Amino acid sequence: MSSGPDGEVGARADRAALEGAFVVLGVTAGIAAYKAVEICRSLVDAGAHVVPVLTPAATRFVGTVTFSALASEPARTELFDPHDPIPHTHLAQAADLVLVAPATANFLAEYAAGIARDLLGATLLATTAPVVVCPAMHAGMWRHASVEENLATLVRRGVVVVPPESGRLAGGDQGPGRLADPAVIVAAAAAVLGAKAELAGVRFLITAGGTREPIDPVRYLGNRSSGRQGHAIAQEARRRGAVVTLVSSSALAPPPGVEFVPVETAAEFAREVFARANDADVVVMAAAVADFRPKTVAPTKLKKADGLAEIELEPTEDVLAALGSRRRPGQVLVGFAAETGDAVASASSKLAAKGVDLIVVNDVSAPGVGFGHETNAVTILEAGGGRIDVPLAPKPTIAAAVLDAVAHRLQRP
Ligand code: CTP
Repeated sequence: MSSGPDGEVGARADRAALEGAFVVLGVTAGIAAYKAVEICRSLVDAGAHVVPVLTPAATRFVGTVTFSALASEPARTELFDPHDPIPHTHLAQAADLVLVAPATANFLAEYAAGIARDLLGATLLATTAPVVVCPAMHAGMWRHASVEENLATLVRRGVVVVPPESGRLAGGDQGPGRLADPAVIVAAAAAVLGAKAELAGVRFLITAGGTREPIDPVRYLGNRSSGRQGHAIAQEARRRGAVVTLVSSSALAPPPGVEFVPVETAAEFAREVFARANDADVVVMAAAVADFRPKTVAPTKLKKADGLAEIELEPTEDVLAALGSRRRPGQVLVGFAAETGDAVASASSKLAAKGVDLIVVNDVSAPGVGFGHETNAVTILEAGGGRIDVPLAPKPTIAAAVLDAVAHRLQRP
């Protein structure tokens, strides 16, 4: 990142792109591995969430302790981790970017061939995030036909290459092969993240999870919502550059870079959403908010011996309907409908009744759909008559489809 007036603008843009981004920093076994420490620090300084992944051989050049001290999470080297049985899929799904610096000739060959014998290789095969590789090697290796062909393969697959510089190499030789300057690499990472940021600066207010309405200090009325779909939407919106506030009752960890507001009851959802809705360009009500709550909450635990004939319920406020009746022009409102039976017919009447732009319908009686599952299948209904069917897929894929529909709506309200 350069200095001077233009440099400052560039640095601000880089910061905006990197802020909250989940970056897997791959480090392979080259002399330049020590420069990855500076890259790690710059990314963290710019607000990125950085997880270093070193190949086992890279640890001969630089220790994990140095990276762990500077990164957002401890450095990882192992594909087989007793605490996290499938670290590569977790990293692959969380990543907004995988940046490999330095990338050795051997690494490029393995990556081009799809070899997954270590955590970095497996993460790269499992991810859909953009990938930037920064080769560094001896000039003779850099010019070898196999390296050129491997790089061409990777470029054809969409991998971004930050080419090495010419200069003095390890061993005293001169020529191309020296790792690009860390500032150039960080700027390239920011550019790749920025290019994806189709929702840059759009303010999202997203709710997730089910409500717990207390009966007494021990018991509650709840529902089966895990919050996974709402959290996936928050993560995907952030990944596309949005400024995201997530009001959630879920036990899941909030995605990085998202403002998190924990809540539990329908009244708390209503309070926190109403306090923020005016500032939002898009409100996504993915939470399964209770329609009824116990009219009174017993101050002490209800005892079996005393008996309990019935729990009297009262309606909660419908947050989405309230937002629909008083929203400001241009704001996009997205509701969810968990249905059984004729899902689409009943959701389209909700779309009109609640005054929303989009309603995401799922038939929770279908296998693999809705509450508690890792997958979902939805129909997105648009005010004005559009309909998008999204077949059974992991919840992050469904989240992407919902955000495509939101982005479309923002362009053509
Ligand atoms: N919703 C809300 N406030 C409530 C209840 C629901 O904002 N008190 C929102 C949910 O977040 C969701 C949509 O409204 O976006 C669901 O609508 P709702 O009519 O509650 O759906 P169901 O619970 O499926 O309704 P019904 O039981 O009538 O089918």
